[in-house]
Amino acid sequence: MSAPQARNTYSLDSFWMPFTANRQFKAAPRMLVSSAGMYYRTDDDRQILDSTAGLWCVNAGHGRREIADAVGQQLATLDYAPSFQMGHPLAFQFAEQLSINAPGGTDAGLDRVFFAGSGSEAVDTALKIAIAYQRAIGQGTRTRLIGRERGYHGVGFGGLSVGGIVNNRRVFPLLPGADHIRHTHDPDRNRYVKGQPEHGVELADDLERLVALHGAETIAALIVEPIAGSTGVLVPPKGYLQRLREICDRHGILLIFDEVITGFGRLGKPFAVDYFGVVPDLVTTAKGLTNGSIPMGAVFAKRKIHDAVVQGQPGQIEFFHGYTYSGHPAACAAGLATLSIYQKEELFTAAAAVEDYWQEAMHSLRGLPHVVDVRNIGLIAGIELASIPDAPGTRGYDVFVDCFNRGLLIRVTGDIVAFSPPLMIERSHIDDMVSILADALKRVF
Ligand SMILES: Cc1ncc(COP(=O)(O)O)c(C=O)c1O
Repeated sequence: MSAPQARNTYSLDSFWMPFTANRQFKAAPRMLVSSAGMYYRTDDDRQILDSTAGLWCVNAGHGRREIADAVGQQLATLDYAPSFQMGHPLAFQFAEQLSINAPGGTDAGLDRVFFAGSGSEAVDTALKIAIAYQRAIGQGTRTRLIGRERGYHGVGFGGLSVGGIVNNRRVFPLLPGADHIRHTHDPDRNRYVKGQPEHGVELADDLERLVALHGAETIAALIVEPIAGSTGVLVPPKGYLQRLREICDRHGILLIFDEVITGFGRLGKPFAVDYFGVVPDLVTTAKGLTNGSIPMGAVFAKRKIHDAVVQGQPGQIEFFHGYTYSGHPAACAAGLATLSIYQKEELFTAAAAVEDYWQEAMHSLRGLPHVVDVRNIGLIAGIELASIPDAPGTRGYDVFVDCFNRGLLIRVTGDIVAFSPPLMIERSHIDDMVSILADALKRVF
């Protein structure tokens, strides 16, 4: 690890921080200055166990030399190349490797890859591909996009419009026509469930309600997170995703899985597509794609979707969409190095080996002060705390700060603690996570 930067040699004023209570943070900052393996180090030289893989992205652990070397070498060789009417080898090589390792394996046919710069961009790209595809097959009236309540699909206007988290939405005008099926949270029937809940397959039928309301011929696509992460870990009921697939098929609606957090081994399989055995038409990814090292997103598209859009007069641009950084050389180098680590260290299945221990450890938190539910799947867990009346989020924040002060980085959304550690986690790390969180729960009001 490089030497920590001295404290207080810079002002905190200029950086307008994302998704942060800026004034609160700047009054009492928490600064990370280096990282290795399962740990961060703070500017006051404390070690912090990372129970969130950064922001659900550092799946192979921190400080991977192979990625740093590949990126450094690439920047020294070809720092940037446009992908508009130009190419460079690494973008094609990385897309090819991703297609070989695509969600659902080669049989699923999700073997065409569009690069973006983030999860939000991947989502907006997928939504646009869906509309472009419908138009290409003569279904031009299908422009409506459907999401799900409590869904998170990033912060572009497309992703916000299909997203279902009210604080992200309420200030902004959104895409006309976007609508939402209901969420799957049903604590009365599914509290403290281990893995997938038994109850709730019928919640998928809510899509039929929207078909009856709007007409199938107006709907281009449904986008869902296979596991809703940012809203506080909602695991789909058994059979639910299969039923969504059936309803989409019945009505000519494309199904998009947003695998920005479930992709690249989080569930003990390469993707949620593999875990649940349900194949959508488009899959969005980011985060673990480059182990969080260089910003990048990617959309996997079924070949039939690609082929329907990529046609027409030769010499004509088929899809008017793309980013300056689509297929950035440094990101592709990072991605290729990341994929090779995942394969060499068998990280796509690592979560499965520790899942039982993880599950029991998480459910051992049941009965502690404030805990009202525990949910888990793969290497993900959500621990829901009772909110303080009229002050939602306060208890969650206090727990977060208490854990950080005692050497554990957790993520809280409102009053729900979410865990999603690097995939090479060992049992001793899990024990530490549970014990620091348990102490915090006993301490906070
Ligand atoms: C499911 C999902 N989709 C999209 C995004 C947005 O990704 P980004 O923050 O890289 O734009 C996230 C980020 O957490 C996510 O969890």
